[in-house]
Amino acid sequence: MNQNLRVPGPTPLPADVREAQAAPMIDHRGAEFAELLGSIRSDIARLTGSGTGAMEAAIVNTHSPGDRVLAVSIGSFGDRFAAIAEAFGASVERLDFEWGTPADPDRLSEALRAGGPYRSVLLTHNETSTGVANPIRELVAAVREAPGEPLALVDAISALGALPFEMDEWRVDLALSASQKAWMASPGIAIAAVGPRARAAEAEAAMPSFYWSFADARRWSEKGQTPWTPAVSVLFGLRRGVERLLAEGREATWARHRAVAAAAQRGVEALDLALLAAPGSRSPTVTAAWLPEGVDWASLNAALRKRGLAVAGGQGRLAGRILRLGHMGDVQLDDILDAITVLGEGLGGLRATPDPARAVDAARDAYRAEAGRGPAAAVPSGAPAARR
Ligand SMILES: Cc1ncc(COP(=O)(O)O)c(C=O)c1O
Repeated sequence: MNQNLRVPGPTPLPADVREAQAAPMIDHRGAEFAELLGSIRSDIARLTGSGTGAMEAAIVNTHSPGDRVLAVSIGSFGDRFAAIAEAFGASVERLDFEWGTPADPDRLSEALRAGGPYRSVLLTHNETSTGVANPIRELVAAVREAPGEPLALVDAISALGALPFEMDEWRVDLALSASQKAWMASPGIAIAAVGPRARAAEAEAAMPSFYWSFADARRWSEKGQTPWTPAVSVLFGLRRGVERLLAEGREATWARHRAVAAAAQRGVEALDLALLAAPGSRSPTVTAAWLPEGVDWASLNAALRKRGLAVAGGQGRLAGRILRLGHMGDVQLDDILDAITVLGEGLGGLRATPDPARAVDAARDAYRAEAGRGPAAAVPSGAPAARR
């Protein structure tokens, strides 16, 4: 059955990505692989693993046991970043915000002034577990202006490619992503962009690591290879995904995600579901909504899957309490309208629910209003507000 895959990663594979991934296997120590690796971008580490591997790589390559780390968490993936740093012996302090809300840059500045200096600050750009996009530029600015200039490490796994991101201009030290998100490829490639300060930190970092060495990845990439056997087929798909992103143009891609997200948010609300995130912090790549009183997640999920719609449930403390609708990568308005229709029908079987057709109209209107603002509206304007 043709499934409308609306979990927040893995994302649907476009036909040409599927074809690229089905190419015959090649020698990962040969010239053809060197050409493949080089064509994706040689200054970004592509390690075989999932996004969590990229998070672990970011920690172990830039820290020593006992280093003071401030972990800013707004959900389950922020918690995971903190847990990884703890597992490798960092001295982790936490700045937690209520799930469903973004992190506050002023409170981060205060925490950095009161508790610093820290070696690094761990940030999440887009918290996939709650559907909240953090004001990442302002948060990074707070980090870079803090005593001791901690490293700003950003988990941009469910953001990169879909949300505006200016690594150099915003002075991000390390940014992470994974192939199964906005890149439109299968799971299997962890992506890390390492800035100059993070690279300098590698020389002093003494946390144990073997598989996840940025230095090894860099050294081998000069020869057009990876240190260990890579996920070759996924790299074929990733190259095609990157080509698709470049062909669309980044501003147009960001604008499409905003418009599709507007449709998802409005459509879900028109089905009488309350969103976790307030307007202004809602994610362009995943919409999280509270399950209505009396609606059981397992029953709803089964009803949706029977109708060909795959959405995600809640994680951690939100398990059984929310649903999450993914809209990143190869997603268009029709995918969302289909999801709203099926969600409305599925809910309708379990309780009184507004007419799905009216929710679809509301979603389409929201899409048109957002799309009408054009690609320029997706570009962040002005410098971040000066920190006090
Ligand atoms: C924000 C964020 N961080 C980390 C991860 C973990 O990535 P993976 O599941 O590829 O290990 C995810 C995956 O959904 C994510 O969305």
